[in-house]
Amino acid sequence: MTMKIMIGKDYADMSRKAAHVVSATVTLHPDCVLGLATGSTPIGMYQQLIKWYEAGDLSFETVQSVNLDEYVGLGAESDQSYRYFMNENLFNHININPTHTSVPNGLAADISAECERYDRHIDELGGVDLQVLGIGNNGHIGFNEPSEVFEKRTNHVHLAQKTIEANARFFTSIDEVPKSAVTMGIKSIMQAKAILLLASGEGKKEIMEAALFGPITPKVPASILQLHPNLIVAGDEAALSLVTKNHPELF
Ligand code: PGA
Repeated sequence: MTMKIMIGKDYADMSRKAAHVVSATVTLHPDCVLGLATGSTPIGMYQQLIKWYEAGDLSFETVQSVNLDEYVGLGAESDQSYRYFMNENLFNHININPTHTSVPNGLAADISAECERYDRHIDELGGVDLQVLGIGNNGHIGFNEPSEVFEKRTNHVHLAQKTIEANARFFTSIDEVPKSAVTMGIKSIMQAKAILLLASGEGKKEIMEAALFGPITPKVPASILQLHPNLIVAGDEAALSLVTKNHPELF
């Protein structure tokens, strides 16, 4: 494994460091495929990318994107859907071609057909060049929740209670949080040429230690990333405090 760990002194610093990695990928490969993530963590990185686009330093004209996941039952019009999130937090503010952006369709009548279509689409694009990931408190990546097995392909998942509770902050009540989602599988994530894992805040310090240095197990889905040949971690000091304490030789 080559794991590169970048430590930002705070969220803004981490976001800027992460944005540099995305920017370098887009600059070197203007027609790259970006794997994108939602959640609170990547928002600062997206804001930085928008600033560089506005300054004329970065163009997304020929970039393609595939998002990790979407809630089942929510569509682009719903302000809690991940399609809406991506439009609001990134796509509407840069020159990416909307037809080059993909998010699983949470309103598909046949969800298993939608999972198959999504995998075919990723394959047709030639796979992901840089996959951005957040990490759940329980170690999920995308919506691949702790489980007995690593799900390889795009799949329909029932959200863990911990995830429903963690995501309730984005909804008016916990009852409104969808109970299931479509998520890109571990295989598509692991086949990305490079992975950029983001983590911010004290609340992520235990799971970051477990994911990066604990046993590789589907009970901590992010632990599979230890096997990726090109893993880049961007965290702030709080999220990486256990990692820096337990592995001082790396820093
Ligand atoms: P967060 O979510 O960025 O809002 O912490 C991460 C995740 O659940 O993957």
